[in-house]
Amino acid sequence: MAVSLFLDGLTVHTQSHDYPIVITESATEDATGQSSMAQQIAPYINGRQVLIVTNDTVAPLYLASLEDELAAHFTVKVCVLPDGEQYKNQASINHIYDVLMDEHFNRDVTLIALGGGVIGDMTGFAAASFMRGVNFIQIPTTLLSQVDSSVGGKTGINHSQGKNMIGAFWQPQMVLADMSTLKTLPARELSAGLAEVIKYALIMDIAFLEWLETNLPAMMALDLAVLGEAVKRCCQYKADIVAQDERESGVRALLNFGHTFGHVIETHEGYGNWLHGEAVAAGMVQAAELSQKLGWLTIEDVARVKRVLELASLPTCPPAIEVQTALRLMGHDKKVKHGQIRLILLKSLGEAVLTNDFDAELLTDVLSQHSA
Ligand code: NAD
Ligand code: GLY
Repeated sequence: MAVSLFLDGLTVHTQSHDYPIVITESATEDATGQSSMAQQIAPYINGRQVLIVTNDTVAPLYLASLEDELAAHFTVKVCVLPDGEQYKNQASINHIYDVLMDEHFNRDVTLIALGGGVIGDMTGFAAASFMRGVNFIQIPTTLLSQVDSSVGGKTGINHSQGKNMIGAFWQPQMVLADMSTLKTLPARELSAGLAEVIKYALIMDIAFLEWLETNLPAMMALDLAVLGEAVKRCCQYKADIVAQDERESGVRALLNFGHTFGHVIETHEGYGNWLHGEAVAAGMVQAAELSQKLGWLTIEDVARVKRVLELASLPTCPPAIEVQTALRLMGHDKKVKHGQIRLILLKSLGEAVLTNDFDAELLTDVLSQHSA
């Protein structure tokens, strides 16, 4: 019997609607061995039609009980996509539309994203676009998706020339983060999620950085209570930012710390070869190095950034990429304005800024430290 160790949560406030994030440890099983994920999400399903979108890795782990229990109350269909960042594309979205059309589902349908950030982003985008917008619910099953991608309504797919280039802002009806799903997550994926956790500390809260320096070993050892506490803190940071700037016209851009450098790595190395979180980790080091060249961080600060990433078994050095190639890939970044690359840099540990006010040569220096 699984006993719920904690059931916690918070509310995200957005212009379209407010919605809850429920953080629990045992929604995958209740006292009868049945899924209670269904019980948690059922109140947020408005119509009678449900489409669960998942992938061929997560489905064998968590789909059956969720599907069976929901089927007692709703018309439930399932769309199982192939697993992988390389399938975060238009063909997968078309597959979701095909199931929705074949089943004659209409505006009453609720899409349920059961999986990590790839499934969450695609399901959200399908929900945003099918019949000009239907409801969806996020059940994030990776640490990365629990602390970041399931919250805040960014949805979308990749283009061959750039990450997340096609998408929409579309908020879910609720988010259910069940820490116990992390028990089946590969260690490398757990580390990738920790990169986004560390990101919040570096951009927003030095006290959280200190907390992580103490608690990362417990998180690496899958202490679900500590992980749950970290998820709650991260979701609160993100909810606060999204409430101020849902459409990323200002402060939300800070959440992309490390991502401009990281997207270069992901695109250059081929989607899925470097995990998103791994690329963000190496990208955060590059952003910290540039911040140090600008005189904002000390060499010791940069070393501290590397150490905390190493505590989470994350890479701190990007792969070799030719500087001109890196600059060209950076040119596709969504933060580029009037042809100028803008980056999130650190004024100090715990304080980030979006800026184009840096010498291009310093950026080239940072890129050439690791160039081919
Ligand atoms: P992912 O969705 O690819 O999941 C990682 C791997 O873990 C996959 O193989 C998946 O099948 C598997 N998996 C998922 N849950 C599991 C579980 N409980 N047990 C065992 N295996 C499990 O990757 P991710 O790191 O969750 O998400 C990365 C994606 O999120 C990227 O596409 C990135 O662009 C996107 N993202 C979006 C936002 C946003 O705001 N929308 C923010 C950050 C990242
Ligand atoms: N992951 C960055 C954002 O949601 O804005």
